[in-house]
Amino acid sequence: MTDLTTLLEVGGPLAALGGGAAYARAKHPAVYWSAVGLPVSTVRLLGSYGSVMEACGLTVAPSRLRVLAVKAATRREVRPVSPRRGMIRPTSTGLRLRLRLAPGQEPADVAASAERLRHAWGVHAVYVRTVKPGVVELRLVGFDVLRQVRMPRKVDAGLLKVPVALREDATPFVRDYRTIPHQLTLGATLSGKSMYLRHLVAGLARQPVALVGIDCKRGVELAPFAARLSALATDPEQAAELLPMLVREMEDRYDLIKARQGIAPDTPAEEITSDVWGLPENERPTPIVLFVDEVAELFLVATKKDEERRDEMVTQLIRLAQLGRAAGIYLEVCGQRFGAELGKGATMLRAQLTGRVCHRVNDEASAKMALGDIAPEAVMAACAIAPERPGLAVAGDTSGGWSRIRTPYLSLGEAADICRKAAHLVPDLPALKPFRPDVPVRPVEPPAPVVQPRPATG
Ligand SMILES: Nc1ncnc2c1ncn2[C@@H]1O[C@H](COP(=O)(O)OP(=O)(O)OP(=O)(O)O)[C@@H](O)[C@H]1O
Ligand SMILES: [Mg+2]
Repeated sequence: MTDLTTLLEVGGPLAALGGGAAYARAKHPAVYWSAVGLPVSTVRLLGSYGSVMEACGLTVAPSRLRVLAVKAATRREVRPVSPRRGMIRPTSTGLRLRLRLAPGQEPADVAASAERLRHAWGVHAVYVRTVKPGVVELRLVGFDVLRQVRMPRKVDAGLLKVPVALREDATPFVRDYRTIPHQLTLGATLSGKSMYLRHLVAGLARQPVALVGIDCKRGVELAPFAARLSALATDPEQAAELLPMLVREMEDRYDLIKARQGIAPDTPAEEITSDVWGLPENERPTPIVLFVDEVAELFLVATKKDEERRDEMVTQLIRLAQLGRAAGIYLEVCGQRFGAELGKGATMLRAQLTGRVCHRVNDEASAKMALGDIAPEAVMAACAIAPERPGLAVAGDTSGGWSRIRTPYLSLGEAADICRKAAHLVPDLPALKPFRPDVPVRPVEPPAPVVQPRPATG
């Protein structure tokens, strides 16, 4: 009987603890990581560093001097040398650790062992990044950060920079218009393209930037942000009127830059500029970001007459993509497919869109349209995205690399609210005034009477 009582006394709390840990691991992985995963993985790493490096083939033979010194001092067996380890830095999602490579090693050797290291130290994933020649950083990620996306609190944001998604190594993916002026976002229906756009609109809404939308789905995705938009076209006819205005605005900006260059022949060299960013702040025109959702709608035509309009629009889009950057005009293009089958100009426009993000696609050809020129593995990764994870995408990097990213969830209502609150930031752009969307006024409910009327009884 006493045995049973002891078993219950010890086993009960242990079972509750185990159950609680399993629940936290499944439902609150970040809490589980901080409380359990982090200490366990740190102990594992510290205890097994040398043997794991040896098992992964990341050690080198000791120098002759070392052999002599060890033999003279301790008479012990001389072990191979592991890369020198820096301090372990815990984070809310994993661990960071720098390694100094041994002579003859390269970062690719460590990267090739990432999968083995992850199993040895019991973490979700291990990523390797070169810090400087001879030094690599290991980023150990404790759990699948893309399951419930939470953006880190400290993010490098600034003018025309929007932290829009999280990478699988728990670093933020920042859409920076100054370094990548134009981007193409592809994905099948319900893959999360509009959510991606929503984050960009909400992020830019708080900045001194003009937002222009072309949403050929009759405006269902962009119209809720009307309060913050400088212009909105909701069908190809309106887009055909809006695009020439943007092209004219771009040409006016070039004239402004040219006028500045020609102020005086003795203008100091550093004041001569070839883009809007070199202009003095009080003369600098507001940057414009043009969002195009469902771009294929602009290309599809039913009649011969529409064909002319389509060709004009495509030419204008190509001109904006080609020349817009220096005039502070940036393109954000979304679509389901964007290939040669859309007709004249499609591949030329695509070639101008430097940034590439590919959500879930239905076939390899669509993934190739977005990522084919980046890396074959990126195409395979995009094809492997499951429909249960909308918002998951593969993003091409400027360096030619790629990474998996996922946007956090942001409801349309929340994004619209951000835009409403930032309505006072809509810049004054006379050229776009005719295209300013109407902001729907919310009906005000009549106040409820304090005293309920009672029917008169006779
Ligand atoms: N990161 C995310 N996390 C959770 N849910 C998401 C995420 N991204 C998108 N979703 C959900 O997936 C659904 C489809 O998203 P979205 O409308 O952005 O897709 P889409 O690619 O624009 O589709 P379509 O081509 O039909 O317009 C929406 O219900 C949205 O709430
Ligand atoms: Mg959409």
